[in-house]
Amino acid sequence: MERIQKVIANSGVASRRKAEEMILAGRVKLNGEVVTELGVKVTKKDIIKVDNKEISSEENVYFILNKPSGFLSSVSDDKGRKVVVELIDTKKRIFPVGRLDYNTTGVIILTNDGDLTNQLIHPKHHVEKEYVATIDGIFTSKHRKIFAKGVDIGDYVTAPCESKLIKMEKKSTSSMVSLVISEGKKHQCKRMFEAVGLKVKKLKRVRFGNVTDKGLRLGEYRLMKPHEIKVIRDLSK
Ligand code: URA
Repeated sequence: MERIQKVIANSGVASRRKAEEMILAGRVKLNGEVVTELGVKVTKKDIIKVDNKEISSEENVYFILNKPSGFLSSVSDDKGRKVVVELIDTKKRIFPVGRLDYNTTGVIILTNDGDLTNQLIHPKHHVEKEYVATIDGIFTSKHRKIFAKGVDIGDYVTAPCESKLIKMEKKSTSSMVSLVISEGKKHQCKRMFEAVGLKVKKLKRVRFGNVTDKGLRLGEYRLMKPHEIKVIRDLSK
């Protein structure tokens, strides 16, 4: 027996939170009857319909994409912009785990596993994300110390984080900085640099938990290996 919202999320129709919203909105039928209660338990024999369409228990798939710039981290866009799911050749209803900005590149997981997605993006799980930012200006130990304490980005003070100067080009006064954060506030890296007076010119995520972009050129993707899925599941517990 499993909760109906979990079964809907596992079928790839929507995240657990969205599935709950669908139930509350009366869009879900269980054996022909509308259910508006969360937490109703169902078995494999029950027929669940969302918007009058029966859900199937699809097998879960997990992809790692090296996202290029110019793609939204979304399944569709009402303004017609390109979205990350277009880059992946699958019939399954996958969605991105969390978001990278339109112009941010790098590692993003795409899956139809709504449960894992919800757990991975939940702040309480502190999944590490490593970014490399190219910034205008010189990143000094003063900036590093501010990041190490936590920085006020307007509506939020970030948790202490590790940062490191990787490369500095004196002439062009730009620096490359690596940053490891475990939160996921909107535009967090850009706002952190902005808070210390530095502008991000380019941003790339090089690691999400245990998953890196190694071996993947921009726009390339691959299926995650079973041991990688296990590690990422453990991270989300
Ligand atoms: N921080 C940002 O500013 N942008 C991203 O895309 C990810 C993290």
